[in-house]
Amino acid sequence: MATTQHDDIVKLIDQIYAAKSQLVSSKGDSNGLGFSDEVQKHHLAKLATDARKLALALQEPNAAFWDLVRRVWCQLRERSTSTQSPSTDRPADESAFTPQCSLLAPIKVSQDMGVFRWLQNHPKATATELATASGGDESLIVRMLRPLVAEGLLAEAGEECYSLTDRGTAFSNPAYEESISFAIDFMPIVLSNPTFFRENGYREPRSHEGLETPLGAYFQKPGYGFFDYLQDHPSVQKTFASAMKAQLKPTYLASTAYPYGEKLASRSTQGDEAVALVDVGGSRGETLLEIKNRYPEIKGRLVTQDRQATFDSITSKPQAIELMVHDIFAEQPIKGATAYHLKRVLHDWSDEECRTILKHVMAAMEKGHSKLLIMDVVLPMTSASFSQAMSDHSMLTFGGKERSEKQWYELLSSVGLKIVKIYQGAEPEALIECEKD
Ligand SMILES: C[S@@+](CC[C@H](N)C(=O)[O-])C[C@H]1O[C@@H](n2cnc3c(N)ncnc32)[C@H](O)[C@@H]1O
Repeated sequence: MATTQHDDIVKLIDQIYAAKSQLVSSKGDSNGLGFSDEVQKHHLAKLATDARKLALALQEPNAAFWDLVRRVWCQLRERSTSTQSPSTDRPADESAFTPQCSLLAPIKVSQDMGVFRWLQNHPKATATELATASGGDESLIVRMLRPLVAEGLLAEAGEECYSLTDRGTAFSNPAYEESISFAIDFMPIVLSNPTFFRENGYREPRSHEGLETPLGAYFQKPGYGFFDYLQDHPSVQKTFASAMKAQLKPTYLASTAYPYGEKLASRSTQGDEAVALVDVGGSRGETLLEIKNRYPEIKGRLVTQDRQATFDSITSKPQAIELMVHDIFAEQPIKGATAYHLKRVLHDWSDEECRTILKHVMAAMEKGHSKLLIMDVVLPMTSASFSQAMSDHSMLTFGGKERSEKQWYELLSSVGLKIVKIYQGAEPEALIECEKD
């Protein structure tokens, strides 16, 4: 059970306010009875800790989760860059396993020991209780939980006694647990970036051919893409699909930015047999299911297309959504649908590869009727957030790219697509509505 975020925030503001009084009274001390420099330093350090905790507590839990994962990756990558001079041959990923560097490790160990789930069901627990519940060493639990308290995922309800913070609740959710496993599996590959770019003349990957991407080079497999990697590693495929799910926010899942109902219902005039929406690269059909539930006025078939391996990982098939195995690099078999959807697909590919994918969709679109709805991040031209910037870095590792508005216009106009409007909702991705020019 989480302590409420509101209570945490109010308590931290009180602490910061109290620190302000102490700082003010320590300044300009004329009779020697005030704080010494050392005491003042101590108060400033405490203030810095509380200010950081306040900033963490102010984050929305889902955003906080991904921010944390990306920060850990970034911290590790910076470390691997800074500890490696161009003249040494030390592999970049060696530092991936430097234990004090990775917060993901104590998070994962704590998840595996059931700490988050236990605290989800109990207001607080001592290390002794957690040791009894998990069968682990009490002293190990104390060491695992210390950084999680410092990071604001747990709060201390006394010495060696813990409760879950609002920010920490995400970590007891099974989809988020899988996301941590995925982040750990993928970490050595992310950390090969410094070596890769040094050896490749600091050039952006232009395709997935040869050893053009950090991922292909890491496995020394020409043309090896992220989805080949998933296919070769079924357990990672499963954690990746869960990680994708953990990014979806059920309350505004991909469907508030764009008025699907209003835009598509009136256009689906050809009866129930016509295809209303094809979600190309739509994973396990969650997006279409959400759209269907939210906009029952949309008539016609809803088809999710993806690779066989993705469908193989489905445990229960979504109701009323057709699943079709389709390769995005092959001819689009469904012609003249009201709309084609490409959500978080194009950011996996280079510009040249995106042109191939887009040309196949365009060949199936009926001019004046079909729309192409691209849902992806549209990076601002300046002041991208840390999360947006690091999301682009994750894509870079396997040859993909997050694009700015200018880059989207360039890419889409290069194949003859016109942007009708860019819709931005609460979700991180925007929806780019396109038509054939
Ligand atoms: C980043 S995921 C996005 C999934 C989904 N659209 C979403 O937003 O949750 C990219 C999807 O593209 C699919 N994909 C990758 N290569 C593909 C290919 N050659 N043909 C069909 N689907 C592919 C993957 O299996 C994966 O489901």
